[in-house]
Amino acid sequence: MSKRRVSYYYDHDVGAYTYGFGHPMKPHRIKMTHDLVSAYNMLDKMHILRPQRASPEAMSAFHTDEYVHFLTRVTPETAEELTYHGSRFLVGEDNPAFEGLFEFCSISAGGSIGAAHRLTSGASDIAINWAGGLHHAKKREASGFCYINDIVLGILELLRSYPRVLYIDIDCHHGDGVEEAFYTSDRVMTCSFHKFGEYFPGTGTQDDRGRGKGKGYAMNVPLKDGITDESFKSVFEPVIAKILEVFRPSAVILQCGADSLAGDKLGCFNLTMRGHAHCVQFLRKQNIPLILLGGGGYTVKNVARTWTFETACALGIEDEIDPNLPWNEYFEWFGPRYRLEVVENNMEDCNVKDGSLEKVRTTALAQLQALACAPSVGMHDVPSESVGQHLGLSKDEDDLDKQLAQHARYVYHLQESDATSSESDEPESAEDSEDSSSSRRFARNAQRTAVRRAKKRMSLMTNRVFEIASHEDGYYEQGCQTSSKSKRRFFQAAAYWDDTFGEVKLGTRDPRRVLGPKQQTLAEMLESGGRAGEDVNMDDDPEWDEMEN
Ligand code: FE2
Repeated sequence: MSKRRVSYYYDHDVGAYTYGFGHPMKPHRIKMTHDLVSAYNMLDKMHILRPQRASPEAMSAFHTDEYVHFLTRVTPETAEELTYHGSRFLVGEDNPAFEGLFEFCSISAGGSIGAAHRLTSGASDIAINWAGGLHHAKKREASGFCYINDIVLGILELLRSYPRVLYIDIDCHHGDGVEEAFYTSDRVMTCSFHKFGEYFPGTGTQDDRGRGKGKGYAMNVPLKDGITDESFKSVFEPVIAKILEVFRPSAVILQCGADSLAGDKLGCFNLTMRGHAHCVQFLRKQNIPLILLGGGGYTVKNVARTWTFETACALGIEDEIDPNLPWNEYFEWFGPRYRLEVVENNMEDCNVKDGSLEKVRTTALAQLQALACAPSVGMHDVPSESVGQHLGLSKDEDDLDKQLAQHARYVYHLQESDATSSESDEPESAEDSEDSSSSRRFARNAQRTAVRRAKKRMSLMTNRVFEIASHEDGYYEQGCQTSSKSKRRFFQAAAYWDDTFGEVKLGTRDPRRVLGPKQQTLAEMLESGGRAGEDVNMDDDPEWDEMEN
């Protein structure tokens, strides 16, 4: 097999971060992988690169400034306050604010951006970043153990030079964050193979195909429990071959989430190490610039085995390496067989049993058949380095880039604000139409968006839907201007003058609305923003509406 120039991104610090005791996501698995790769003497066959850590500006190419700024300053001690009691940015148990969170994100994202740059500069044919692949992260919110979407940032870097990029996701969970980011684009085709049905994140049906210009360019292959190597290959190969034929990507990113392996703690597929790695071998043969990223994977010894083997596949030496593991720092973890293998178990393949695999494959191929040909893109010369560096203005500060990015975000905010306004079913009041201040208009629209925003999320750990508290009160107290008609809830329902005792009492006059089972202290009231106990739903209370008006 012909040689490929392979680059491998690794930062020695990455294995030291921890999501917390008992959390299934273990960054340590990346160090285990690296040690095994090193023990197999693969390091001298690749370009080993330590990624430049991604800056907040680089992350803001996809994420909002506000969210990135939050990540730069959140700590375990300040998380409760900065997330407005778990209602913004980090919701639920999946995404804790662990020590060194931002540095971890900057390593993961820096590797994927660096990998993309390595391909576009022509220095490599294949680039690997096992610390990347965090496909659930959203524009303004963490999700499913992912905080910064390094994949989206990597694709954006590729799009500076390439007209079309194909993203393939073989993690057991749907690649929702990446699909969402490029849902309306025909320059990025996303294709996710995942478990569907009462499973995180609950998205990724075959009816989800993209919108607008992106219609048809989001591909979903929903699967059921227990899929084997043979079944997976029977749908992966024809679908990807057809995509390569009709979409003709200039580069491919393969997210190699390892929770699709047999025996994964959170996964439910039955793939062996070789079945999983077949996807890498298949794509390597296509001779298209390729990025391999990590992702999920919660049985860490199997993650390390598989990503090590896939590194060998990238190098084209998979047939040469010894299946008996060489001595390494974590050798005892790989007992009792100490072999480079992940074997299948006795799970039933539900995809074959009910014939659903055939239907899924047929539907996917029909979707691709409807795509006439690869969309053409009017490309122009794009500097591979930053704009500031390209013009020779600055090498360190990159002020021009910052200003351009800031301008783009300002325009985006206005567009988003206008879109929200036009979607509103409420008629604009006279007062509203007279108000020409864009900041006030933005605040009002943001308020509506906040109120309407879905308050339900799914947990990757439990696959259960949970509700999150509204953050609208905290949001406005933190500096957003409100219109004169904004609701003020601070203290209004939670304190009153008691004539009998001649003093202010905490609570309400109506004994039915006393603050929960226990009386709140002033400090607790301040903490809760002056709201009553959880058992009181003020939105449904006519007396509450009366007080507001
Ligand atoms: Fe996953």
